[in-house]
Amino acid sequence: MLNGNVIAITSGKGGVGKSTVAVNLALALADIGKKVALIDLDIYGYSVPKILNIESKPKTMNNKIIPVGHENITVMSMGFLLKGNDPVVWRGPMLGKMIDHFFDDVIWGKQDFVILDLPPGTGDIALDLHHKLPKCQEIIVTTPHPNAVHVAERAGMMAKQTNHTILGVIENMSYFSPPNSEEVYHLFGKGGGETLASNLDTNLLASIPLVHPQADGEPSVLLTQDEQLASVYHSLATNLVETLTCEEVK
Ligand SMILES: Nc1ncnc2c1ncn2[C@@H]1O[C@H](COP(=O)(O)OP(=O)(O)OP(=O)(O)O)[C@@H](O)[C@H]1O
Ligand SMILES: [Mg+2]
Repeated sequence: MLNGNVIAITSGKGGVGKSTVAVNLALALADIGKKVALIDLDIYGYSVPKILNIESKPKTMNNKIIPVGHENITVMSMGFLLKGNDPVVWRGPMLGKMIDHFFDDVIWGKQDFVILDLPPGTGDIALDLHHKLPKCQEIIVTTPHPNAVHVAERAGMMAKQTNHTILGVIENMSYFSPPNSEEVYHLFGKGGGETLASNLDTNLLASIPLVHPQADGEPSVLLTQDEQLASVYHSLATNLVETLTCEEVK
């Protein structure tokens, strides 16, 4: 059974950094002493094992799954249940069963926070989540570009329609500032996060800069490679801890 504050990282839009934000927020919360589970709910497009460079697989005990422990967080992903880079070729109803499996058949233990990495869009998984975890809260991710905002907003509208609490908006890839320079470049435009937050009657929680990707073969965990980024994620994590209280979700 899941317990703790469940926060879904979502967006109608693909490729805006949901998984990156989910992973880094989970690590930042663990850094400030919280017990954190990270569940990759992108069943078709699972990416968390690769982002964290996790090679180990979960073990089982009495028909229950023991999730993978990694850097102080507890992780579950469809990627752990498949061989190599196998594609998932299921229809919708199987996705719902897999969500049940992740929530009910995994030994989660006591958690302060459960971070859910959602697939893009407002399809089956997002819909199932609204029914299965009515107390789930959501953070909507967008880039500053108006087109991203337009699509991302649909995830927020869906949250509102199903009475999920929207904690706020994260604007990712907000700007680029070259190392050792005061210059700031708004490569994808400006203000999208503010616009989305205002359209959804919520707050902009963080603006996360674009950073250089890691060198080949390194995990794309941005927290460890960039002081500016680490400070943004740690402020976000502290802010969430101060504003939320842990409660049972199911
Ligand atoms: N702030 C950032 N700076 C630089 N690169 C970033 C940043 N955030 C994300 N990325 C990169 O952008 C790409 C897309 O990020 P990510 O996979 O997290 O997006 P997503 O929204 O989860 O995508 P999908 O919709 O496919 O699940 C990845 O290569 C990631 O490393
Ligand atoms: Mg993703």
